[in-house]
This record gives sequence, C-alpha cells and structure tokens, in this order.
Amino acid sequence: MADQKNMRGPGPGGSPRGGFGKPKDLGGTLRKLMRYLGQYKARLCLVVVLLMVSSACTVGGSYLLKPLINDYILPGDFAGLARMLGVMGAVYATGAACSYGYSRIMVNVSQNTVARIRADLFAKMQKLPLQFFDTHTHGELMSRYTNDIENISEALNNSFGSLISCALNFTGTILMMIVLSPLLSCVTFAMLVVMLGVVKTIGSRSRRYFAAQQATLGQMNGYIEEMIEGQKVIKVFNHASAAQAGFDERNEAYRQNATRAQIYAGAMMPAMGNLSYINYALTCCLGGILSVVGGTFQLGDLAVFLNYSRQVSQPITQISQQVNTILSAVAGAERVFEVMETPPEKDEGKVKLVRVTQDQNGALAEAGYDTGEWAWKRPDGTLIPLRGDVRFDHVVFGYDSRKIVLHDISLYAKPGQKIAFVGSTGAGKTTITNLINRFYEINSGTITYDGIDVRHIEKDSLRHSLGIVLQDTHLFTGTVADNIRYGRLEATDEEVEAAARLAGADTFIRHLPHGYDTVLSDDGGNLSQGERQLLNIARAACANPPVLILDEATSSIDTRTERLIEKGMDRLMAGRTVFVIAHRLSTVRNSQAIMVLEQGNIIERGDHDDLIAQRGRYYQLYTGQVELD
Ligand SMILES: Nc1ncnc2c1ncn2[C@@H]1O[C@H](COP(=O)(O)OP(=O)(O)OP(=O)(O)O)[C@@H](O)[C@H]1O
Ligand SMILES: [Mg+2]
Repeated sequence: MADQKNMRGPGPGGSPRGGFGKPKDLGGTLRKLMRYLGQYKARLCLVVVLLMVSSACTVGGSYLLKPLINDYILPGDFAGLARMLGVMGAVYATGAACSYGYSRIMVNVSQNTVARIRADLFAKMQKLPLQFFDTHTHGELMSRYTNDIENISEALNNSFGSLISCALNFTGTILMMIVLSPLLSCVTFAMLVVMLGVVKTIGSRSRRYFAAQQATLGQMNGYIEEMIEGQKVIKVFNHASAAQAGFDERNEAYRQNATRAQIYAGAMMPAMGNLSYINYALTCCLGGILSVVGGTFQLGDLAVFLNYSRQVSQPITQISQQVNTILSAVAGAERVFEVMETPPEKDEGKVKLVRVTQDQNGALAEAGYDTGEWAWKRPDGTLIPLRGDVRFDHVVFGYDSRKIVLHDISLYAKPGQKIAFVGSTGAGKTTITNLINRFYEINSGTITYDGIDVRHIEKDSLRHSLGIVLQDTHLFTGTVADNIRYGRLEATDEEVEAAARLAGADTFIRHLPHGYDTVLSDDGGNLSQGERQLLNIARAACANPPVLILDEATSSIDTRTERLIEKGMDRLMAGRTVFVIAHRLSTVRNSQAIMVLEQGNIIERGDHDDLIAQRGRYYQLYTGQVELD
C-alpha cells in the first residue's frame, strides 16, 4: 500500500519541475521577495554603496590613463608616472575590495533569505490540508525545495548584484565617453544599437530553447524518478524495454533542446566580441585622425576612450545573461509563494484536551502535570471528562464536491464499544475514519465526540486523543524504538517495550540485529509488511489513546501471529472505544456493532449474530469466506 502511494511520482507527462518559465506576476512576486529581503535593509544599503564605489573605481581607474599619458608619459616625467601608477593601483585595489565586500555580504544575505524561505515553506507544508497533497505530486512539491529555491538563491547570490553593477558601469562609462568626445561617442552609440539588436535576437532564441531544455529536463527527471520507484513493478511485468524506449525518447528530446540552447548561448559571446572589435577599430581610426589633427583631443584621451569603448559592451552581454537567471528565479519564487499562500488547514476549534484530577466529590480540576485522566476544556473553562463517545449524524462527504463518497451516514460508538466496518473495497471504510480525525471537512451533517462537535475541538487535541493505525503507514528513518516512540515522545524505554509486547512486536524486534536500536531506513524497507504493521500497532499502543482506529491493522499478519497478538490487542482495546476495519471477518466478530458499507451507504448494522440472522450482505460475506476457508 505504501508502494501504491510512492508510485504517485510526477507523471511522465511531467510536472513543471524545470525552474524556467515566465513569471505571471513579476511585480507582485518581486514585492514579496523584497519583503523577505526587507530585514537586511542596512546590509543591502551597504551593498549598494559598495557597488557604487566599485563602479566608480572601474570607470575612474580607466580615466586615469588620460593624465597618465598626457601629463607624464608624453612629457617624460618618470617620477610623476610612478606616483600616478601608484594612484591607479590604489583605485583598482579599492574597486576590487568593494567587489569582494559586496559579494560576501550578498552571499550572506541570500543564504539567510533562502533559509528563511525554506523554513517558511516547510512550516507551511505542515499546515496544509491533506487535500493539497492529494492534488500535488511528490515530485512537484520536492522541486519547490530543490529547483525553485535554488534558483532564487542563485539569483540573489550573483545576479541582482551584477545587474546593478552592470547598470552603474554602463551609465558611468557612457557619461565619461560623452565628456571625452561627443563625436566619437556617436560611433559607439551606433554600434551599441546594432549590438542590442543582436543580443535581442540571439537572447530571445536562446531563452526559448533554454525554456524547452528545462521543460524536457523536468520530464526526463520525473520519468527517471518514477522508474526508480517502480523498479519492482517494471521487473514483475517485464517492462524494461518499454521503460528504456520511454527514456530514450525523453533523453533525445532533451539532447536536441539542450544542443540548440547551448549553440545560441555560445553564439552570443563571439558575436558580441566581434562587434566590439569592429567598434574598436572604427573608434581607433576616427580617434587617431582627431588626435593627429590636434585640438583638445590628445593621445591620452584616445587611450581612455578606446578602453571605454571595449568596456561598454560587456554590461550588455552580462545583463542579457543575468535576465535569464533572474526571470527563472522570479518564476521559482512565484511557485514557492503559491504554496505559501494556499489556505492552511482550518482550525477554528477552541476546545482543548487537558489532564485533570478528580477530588472526593467527583469535581474535576485541571492538573498541572502530564498524567492522570483526560478531559475536554471548553473556552469558558468547563471540563468534560473524555469518554470516547463518537457519533455521526447524517454525514455526507466527498473528496471532491462533485463525487459524493459517503451518503447520509449516521452511527454511534458508545464509550468502550468496539465498532467494526466491513464491506467491499472502495466502499468508504477508510474515509469514515479519515473524517473522525478531521483529515477532511465534511459536506454536511455533524460528527460529535463526547457531545462536542469535532469542528469545535482543536485539531491537535482531537488527533492526540485518537490512536490511529493507518492502512498505509509510514516508518521514519530512525531506530525501532524511535519509531514506536513517535506515538508519544516522552515515553520511557520501558514504556516503549511494554507497548511493543502489547502489540506482539517484541519477539521480532529482539531478533533484529540491534534489537530496539536497529536503524530503519527508507520507510522500513528492511522489514516485512507484517512487521511494519506490528510496529504501527505498537506505536498506537505507546500513545495510549482513549479512542483507537485500526484500519486493516492485521491484514498483513499471518493467522498464527494474529492469534498471538489477539490477546494483546484485546488488552489494548479494553476500556477504549475502538473502530476496526478488517476484511478478515473473524477479527470483527466480537464487535458490539458491525456496519456493513456498500458504495458509501451503511446497508446493514448490528452485532454478528443479528447480521447472520438477517441473512443479508454480511451473511454472504461471512459465509462466503467460511466456504473459501
Ligand atoms: N484521497 C482521495 N481522493 C479522492 N478520492 C478518494 C481518496 N481516497 C479514497 N477515495 C475514493 O473514495 C472511495 C472510498 O475509498 P476508501 O478508501 O474509503 O475505501 P475503503 O472502503 O477503505 O476500501 P479498502 O477496503 O480498499 O481500503 C473510493 O471510491 C476511492 O476511490
Ligand atoms: Mg481502506
């Protein structure tokens, strides 16, 4: 059953795992990102200052060539030349120091920011209703953490800083060029227009293929993930060659798109380089004539101007490259914020679960310690002892409002009663138990717990009071003892072992290589289905809840082991309200009430003898099974 869940990877159709794609709401997403960056205002201001200084040093350092040549080299003043070289060195060193400083601060800010985004996303994920997980694949959610947040981090680390620095360098250089020679600047401007055209054409093609590359990469990764998870099924059904063919197709699509994207991306640099050389040559010719003709334009001016004309094209290329990174980061941020803005699981409940003590007159008082009896505490302070009385009153429910799964269900379980649900697969047995602990909201009707509408009970308190052995359970990476203790974190080692004995899990645990300290990994992959279920039961026993829900708890356990743990289970169930779901009718025989479900309706109810006497569906199920036995 766990496999069934794992198989829900991203479909081969591919979820949007590639971090590329145009953001839908650029402004809004940037504003939200800014809110995260807002708390680093001081540091970001410092970054901007450092960037400005660094740009000023780059542009100014080049400008120093002019006096260097005009005032020292041409007149032959070597002492002055040495001094000037020192000044230039200092200017460039300052620029380098500022660049180093700003990138260090930026890395710091960006890593702190993405760590907070990750933490917020994870915290949010814990609050999302199960419905959300039903409608999103694992791969899709994983890619929020891996792809999207990585893209944000990448952009914050480098791109935002370089974007500002490029813009500053570009503006500074242009200004200085105009100051030096408006005439020569015109040549450069004409070339810049051509360069912009080239960047635009190559850039938009490259972006398109890059987007296609990311999309096909996402599809290929999704496919690989699914094939790894489904290896067993692939082998069982001899699907290896079909799987290979599917992979080859995606691999080829990725190769084609990646090749095109890389060709265009690779074409940018040489194209821009050549244009920049043409610009250089033109400026050289024209500038040479200007300086020979004389006037104010001297050799030093020419050297500086030429230097600038080389520098001016760099920001254009860089900006066009950073735009890709930034757009994909914003698109990633948008997807992350989308998850963060999904409405959380509603919890308007005010009734809490508390520990109480009772005096001689039977009056309850809230206990300050964590043992004793359980009670519900209403907002007005009244205490109601927890008894375990669960009632469904005309409950209608569908996972999706268009398809009703449970029709008008009414039932009650009095404290200490054992209620069983039987019926064919898909009848709605698991669904009923999902409603008691409010995994899903009901469409209409009411569910009450000790007379309190479950909607008024705080969800944590509600779930705390219910011990659930899920049909498709999960074991976490950790020791066997840790996994049992998951039911109640403060349980001592003795309590953990007692719970395991109660569940009948003690024997097999002692045979594990390190007993209770054996580390389980990969959802308990190193255990058998039955052993996993025993651990599950032990987990519920450890939690020691007043109400127990056992969904097919013993379905994977052999009949001999089942007999062995039956006594333990009886002890576990004693004094508690228990809901059991079982296909094996022998396990539900001794229930006070058995509900027979069929397509979301309770079609028969009563105890075993009543139902047999009715000679209806239960009788058929029971006798059918007996015949098969
Ligand atoms: N998460 C879900 N989203 C949408 N539909 C669901 C979901 N879980 C179950 N269903 C549907 O609800 C119906 C009842 O399912 P449920 O799991 O309650 O059956 P069940 O009686 O427990 O069956 P089984 O004996 O196989 O465990 C089925 O038709 C199923 O397809
Ligand atoms: Mg079920």
